[in-house]
Amino acid sequence: MTAEMTEKNRPGKDWPAILLSWFDRNKRDLPWREDKPRNPYHVWISEIMLQQTRTEAVKPYFNSWMERFPTIHDLACADEADVLHQWQGLGYYTRARNIYRAAKEMEDHYGGKLPKDKEEILSLPGIGGYTAGAILSMAYGKKEGAIDGNVLRVYARLYCVEEDILKTGGRKIIESLVKDTLPDRAGDFNEALMDLGAEICIPRSPRCESCPLLPRCRAFYEGKEKELPKRTPKKPQKEEEAACAIIVKDGKVLLHKRPSRGMLASMWEFPMALSGGAEEAKKKLEAALSGKAGDCLWQYRHVFTHRIWHMKAYRMEDCRVPEGEYGWFAPDEYREFPLAGPHARLAAFVEQMIR
Ligand code: ADE
Repeated sequence: MTAEMTEKNRPGKDWPAILLSWFDRNKRDLPWREDKPRNPYHVWISEIMLQQTRTEAVKPYFNSWMERFPTIHDLACADEADVLHQWQGLGYYTRARNIYRAAKEMEDHYGGKLPKDKEEILSLPGIGGYTAGAILSMAYGKKEGAIDGNVLRVYARLYCVEEDILKTGGRKIIESLVKDTLPDRAGDFNEALMDLGAEICIPRSPRCESCPLLPRCRAFYEGKEKELPKRTPKKPQKEEEAACAIIVKDGKVLLHKRPSRGMLASMWEFPMALSGGAEEAKKKLEAALSGKAGDCLWQYRHVFTHRIWHMKAYRMEDCRVPEGEYGWFAPDEYREFPLAGPHARLAAFVEQMIR
C-alpha cells in the first residue's frame, strides 16, 4: 500500500479515512467526549478552555465547572464574580467574561441553548471561526472545519506547505486544503486531527514512527518534518518588575480591585506597582501607600502571553490606604474572590504566613 506512494501523489485522497480509523482505535478519553450524542454546551465550554490551556490542565476545571453550572441557564443566572472564580488559574480571563456574556445572550434570545445557525453562533461573544466550527461539527454533525494550531501544523506537514502558517497567505492555503478534504464525519475528523497534533504530530520532534499518516506525509518524504511548519518568530515579551505589598491588620490583608477595563479587569490583587526596574517599582509602591517597604517575603516570575512580571512582595506596615477600591479581607473571605493571575499564588502564600 505504501511503497508505491510517490512524491507526486502524497498525501493522496485516502488519508482522512486512514486518520478516522486510527481515531476510532486510539481516541483519548476526555470528559467532554463522554456524552452520546455530544452536548453542545459541553463542547463549547471545553473548546474555550482548551484554547490556551493543556488538555490535562483543563480536565479538572471542566468537571468542576459542570458541577457548578450544569446548564447554560445556571451559568446565565450566576454572578460574574462566581464565574471568574471558577475560571481562576486558567488565565486569559476575557474568555470567562465572554462565556458569561454569551450565556446571557443564549438565555435571552435562544431559549438557553446554543444556536445551530453558523451566523448566530458567530455573533456570540468569544466565539470565532474555530469555536463555531468545533461546535457545529462535533455537536451538530455539520460539515465544518475547526482550524487550530494543531490542524495548521498537521496540514502544513502533510502537504509540505512552506508558507508561514501564521500569515494570511499560509493560512488561506490550509483553509482551502481543509475545505477540500473534510469527510462526512467532520466532528470526529476535527478531533482526530487534534489528537494527532497533540500526541504524534507534535511541534518540535514529531513522533513519525507512530504516525498512521507517515506513508502519506509529504514533509516526511522530503525530510522536512522538523522544519515545518514555518512561522515568524514571536516578538519578545515585555518584561516588568512588579512590587506588591503584604499589609496585614487583625488577620486581614489589604486588597485592591483592578479597574473594570484592561488586563485582568475587575479582579483582586495585592496593592502593586509596575516599573522597568525593581527599585523603581518598590519606590512607586511606597509612594502610593505612603509607607516603607520592609523585607521581601516572596518572589515569583509570571509569564503571560505578551509580558512577564518579575514579582516581589514586601511586608509593609503603617500605610495609608489610597483612593479607589480597596478593602481588608481575611483568607476565608478572599478565597472566594477572583484573584488576578499570579496574585492567587501570592494569596496562598500569605494565607500560610498569617495562619
Ligand atoms: N483541543 C481543542 N479541542 C479539543 C478537543 N475537542 N479534544 C481534544 N483536544 C482538543
